[in-house]
Amino acid sequence: MKSYTYVEKSGKNFKPTATAQEVSFAKKDIYAKADKNRIAFWEDLAKEGIDWIEPWENGKAYQQKGNSFAWFKGGKLNLCYNAVDRHLNKPEKSAIVFVPELMHEKKIVISYKELFKMVNNAAAMLKYNGVKKGDVVSIYLPMIPETLAFMLACVRIGAIHGVVFSAFSPDALRTRIKDAGAKVLITSDIYYRRGKKESLKKKANKATRGLRIKKIIIPRAKVGKFLNQDHFNYIQPEVMDAEDLAFILYTSGTTGKPKGVMHTTGGYAVSTYWSAKYIFNMQEGETIWCTADIGWVTGHTYACYGPLLNGATTVLFEGMLDYPTPARYLQIINDNDVSIFYTAPTALRLFAQHGNKYPNKYKLNSLKILGSVGEPIDEKTWLWYYTNIGKKRCPVIDTYWQTETGTIVICSPPGIGPFIPSYAGKAFPGIDYEIADEKGKKLPLEKKGLLVQVPPFSPSLIRGVWGDPKRYKTYFIGKYYLAGDNAFKDAQGNIRILGRSDDVIKVAGHRLSTAEMENAIEGLLGVVEAAVVSKSDALRGKVPIAFVKSRWPMKEEKIVGIVNKKIGPIAKPAKVYFVKDLPKTRSGKIMRRVLKALLANEDPGNIMTLVNPESVKDIGEMLKSPPSPPKK
Ligand code: PRX
Repeated sequence: MKSYTYVEKSGKNFKPTATAQEVSFAKKDIYAKADKNRIAFWEDLAKEGIDWIEPWENGKAYQQKGNSFAWFKGGKLNLCYNAVDRHLNKPEKSAIVFVPELMHEKKIVISYKELFKMVNNAAAMLKYNGVKKGDVVSIYLPMIPETLAFMLACVRIGAIHGVVFSAFSPDALRTRIKDAGAKVLITSDIYYRRGKKESLKKKANKATRGLRIKKIIIPRAKVGKFLNQDHFNYIQPEVMDAEDLAFILYTSGTTGKPKGVMHTTGGYAVSTYWSAKYIFNMQEGETIWCTADIGWVTGHTYACYGPLLNGATTVLFEGMLDYPTPARYLQIINDNDVSIFYTAPTALRLFAQHGNKYPNKYKLNSLKILGSVGEPIDEKTWLWYYTNIGKKRCPVIDTYWQTETGTIVICSPPGIGPFIPSYAGKAFPGIDYEIADEKGKKLPLEKKGLLVQVPPFSPSLIRGVWGDPKRYKTYFIGKYYLAGDNAFKDAQGNIRILGRSDDVIKVAGHRLSTAEMENAIEGLLGVVEAAVVSKSDALRGKVPIAFVKSRWPMKEEKIVGIVNKKIGPIAKPAKVYFVKDLPKTRSGKIMRRVLKALLANEDPGNIMTLVNPESVKDIGEMLKSPPSPPKK
């Protein structure tokens, strides 16, 4: 396969080559075009990219009243039709490539025609189980083709899917099923992780004990065949309003309760189709491998809807990227002619630990574009990615977005650039981001502050928090949408993300709530109170550290165990410190900022306003003292 060079060095940064500019869908003039009239810009994209059953009312593409806003209201469409049915003119084109974790199992390639059959059969199964338009269906599945088929089946019949990350614990699943009021749960018996069987069914049974919910269980042995049988039930796609809900996806906020982020049909379809096209230059028939799990928004948008809306092929890999050898991910790219590889900095740091030993064995000529997502990518990792996987031919596109934005909102498109290590880039055409202070006042360029989106809001931005309209309001500061991240913007409009401004932490790119971990720990008998803060980690970006005040001596494993049970293994504290007292203000608020500073070996700042300043000294000394030797 011939390879092209899409990027070249330009001073300390990188820019697209003439070839990249020529072959890219988004050209330099796109920003000016979008800025002229952002609503008209999105209207044109909506008409060109998506098949509508009925158009929205002329002149009413965007409506806003206070914090409520709508895109293309009155317009009718079906998301599943756009992702599957409309590609049936090329029925043999590959839609999904499923790569099992076990090396002796063969990959399964599913064509659009087969996916169409699978989706219709899944839709029939949902209907048979009483699912109607507006009902919520919980999906607790690994990375198998059936997961995508059931998601698409939901949106086909107007049901709302709520996918729950398969590594979440039964308690976490139960909370989400109950909050969503799901009617049906779709799960599987097992899947493979590092060669071992993980039983999802057991966890699902535990989660649903005593709940009135129907279950559909997909046997691992029938992957690719469970829905792809001889019989075929055609189910007419439901006519959906652009503002009807497509899905909810739970994410972590600053309280202990996860929030169901609501996404609607029309805006999501338009933003997903175009972000995939403009940011990844996604062409019909090309292969993208987005390594994110389907339980996170990245999996929804760039492993499922983005590729399928564009008629591309999506790779689903069941297992761990470095199993059974650190070359596994390279083999998958190589064997499947992957042209777009999209992963998280934590995975890249893991790969980079092995230097260039493994990547040097592969040419990776099929690659065009590399993406990074989920957490800030440091310059060293960026350069390793560019050099060893991209072979200095492919741009590294750092993509910033959130469960709430639904699609990528800040990045440097491949034909435009510039690609600056550690900068996410400019706001996507038609979207405006600014930096504001805590009162919601816009700050000048180069000043650090809160990242905010300026109305008219992006088409796929969150429309509500499931069952909690009050919580939705906390997303807004004045007229702006508040992202929850700190950032600054340089004179060219390039934005650098500096990390969360709230108590959410990103562990290996996974979004977790410190409050949820604290709630879990505080539920243990004998615990008086707990504070969880993040600490930088060379591999995982950030890790949670727990400070616990207990009534009697406790073992660290007990604290780690309860977090594992209530949330899942990804949230396990990396270290637990048992303390005499937690630093508090007079009003009783735990000063997590002080704990964070102590962990980072930084000055904790003014502590005289605390009721117990001596606690800071005690904890400081405890952190400095060498860890006690392991018990025999
Ligand atoms: O803190 C930002 C970080 O991830 C948060 C959103 O997490 P989640 O909703 O799970 O969605 C992750 C995948 C889109 C953001 O508020 N984040 C995401 N992308 C980046 C990032 N931080 C820095 N650089 C990024 N490219």
